[in-house]
Amino acid sequence: MPPKISRFAQSIPGSTVVAMRRQADLLQSEGVEIIDFGIGEPDFTVPDVVAEAAIQAVREGRSDYTDPAGLTELRVAIANFEEQQHATHVLPDQVVVTNGSYGALTAIMRGILEPGDEAVVIVPGWGPCRQMIRLCGAVPVEAAMPAVDGRFVIDAEVISAAVTDRTKAIFLNTPWNPTGRVLTRKELSTIAAIAVREDLWVVADEVYSELVFGEMRHVSIASLGPEMAERTIIASSLSKSFAMTGWRLGYCIAPPDLSPVLSKINHTTTRCAASIVQYAALAAFEKALPDVELMRAEYAARGRAVARGLNQIEGVCCPIPEGTFYALTQIPGEWGPSAAVAETLLTRAGVIVTPGSYYGPTCEHFLRLSFATSMAVIEEGIERLRKALPPT
Ligand SMILES: Cc1ncc(COP(=O)(O)O)c(C=O)c1O
Repeated sequence: MPPKISRFAQSIPGSTVVAMRRQADLLQSEGVEIIDFGIGEPDFTVPDVVAEAAIQAVREGRSDYTDPAGLTELRVAIANFEEQQHATHVLPDQVVVTNGSYGALTAIMRGILEPGDEAVVIVPGWGPCRQMIRLCGAVPVEAAMPAVDGRFVIDAEVISAAVTDRTKAIFLNTPWNPTGRVLTRKELSTIAAIAVREDLWVVADEVYSELVFGEMRHVSIASLGPEMAERTIIASSLSKSFAMTGWRLGYCIAPPDLSPVLSKINHTTTRCAASIVQYAALAAFEKALPDVELMRAEYAARGRAVARGLNQIEGVCCPIPEGTFYALTQIPGEWGPSAAVAETLLTRAGVIVTPGSYYGPTCEHFLRLSFATSMAVIEEGIERLRKALPPT
C-alpha cells in the first residue's frame, strides 16, 4: 500500500466545466462543430498597450523576483484604482499582488481559516472557492439563496441560519457568477449586519467588478463603513475586466494587520507574481481603461441578446444580466435535472452550457450560459438551443 494522500486534498471533486469541455473535445474530434457557452473566459485579446508593456519589460530584462507583495508602483496603482472606481479607501500597503484571484483567494483562506472552522458560502456560487476552504481543512457551509421570478436574491435569514459558533467567515461574490446579478447596497448591508453582529471576516470576490451594465453600479462591501473595512478582504484580478485570464495577475486587499500575513503566504507558496506581468498590469491600470469600457459595452449588448433569445423558448425564463458575462436561465422542472439537460444539449445540439446543479442546490433547474463569445456565435448557439429544446 502506498502512503496516504491528504484527506483534505481528496475531498476536492473535479470541475464540471472542465469535464464538459473534455467531452466536447471528443465530439469535436469526430467532426461535431461545438458552440461553447461554458467557459468563463473573454474572447477579446489583451489590450495593445498591455501587450506592448509586457514586451518592453521583457526587452529591458525586468525579470527578477519582485517583493512578495508585488511592485510598489503596481500596489499604488491598484489602491488608486479601487479608490477611484469603487470608493474603497485603500492604502498601497494593504495590497498583495498574486497569481490571479485564485492566488488571492487561496492566500486569504489560508490566512484566516484553521482545520475545523466553518465558512459560509453564498450559493449559487463559483465552485473552486468551496474547494479552497476544504484544502485548509475547514468546512464550506452553503447558504442557498432563493430565486424570485428566476432571479436570485440575497436572503439574510438563510445566511444567519448558516452561522454557528465555528463560523469564521462569509464568502460572497459580486458581480455574482453564475447569476449575472450585481448585489445592491441594500443586499450587501444585510450581509454586513450579520458579519458585524457575529464578528466574522467577509471575503469579497470582486473579480467581475468592472463588468457591470446599464444603471447598475458595483458596490464593495468594504466601502460600507469602518466596521466593514476592518473585516473585509477583497480578492480581484485583471483576468475578466482586462481580458487577461492566462496572464494570471490578481490581488488581495486586506486590513493592515492581515496584509503582511498574506504577503508571507504568497512568498511561501509562489514567491511573487510574474515580474513581466506586473509591469503589464501597471500599463493596464494606467492606459487600458478605455479598452475595458469598450468590452463592457459589448458584453452588455451580448447579455441582452442571449436573454432575448432564451426568453423566446417556451418555458424558459432568463433575466437580463446586470453584470459579469453570464446569463443564468431557469428551465421547467419537468425537463429533469440540469446536468441531464446540459448533456442532451451537448450531444444533440453540440452546445456546451453549464448545469445549474454545479453551483448549488437552489440552482438545479437553471443553466448558465457564458456570453464571452461573439454575437455571431451567440445567434448560432441560441438557434441550436431553440431547435433542441425541450430536451424530450
Ligand atoms: C467568481 C470567480 N472568482 C474567481 C475566478 C478566478 O479567476 P482568476 O484567477 O483568473 O482571477 C473566477 C474565474 O472564473 C470566477 O468566476
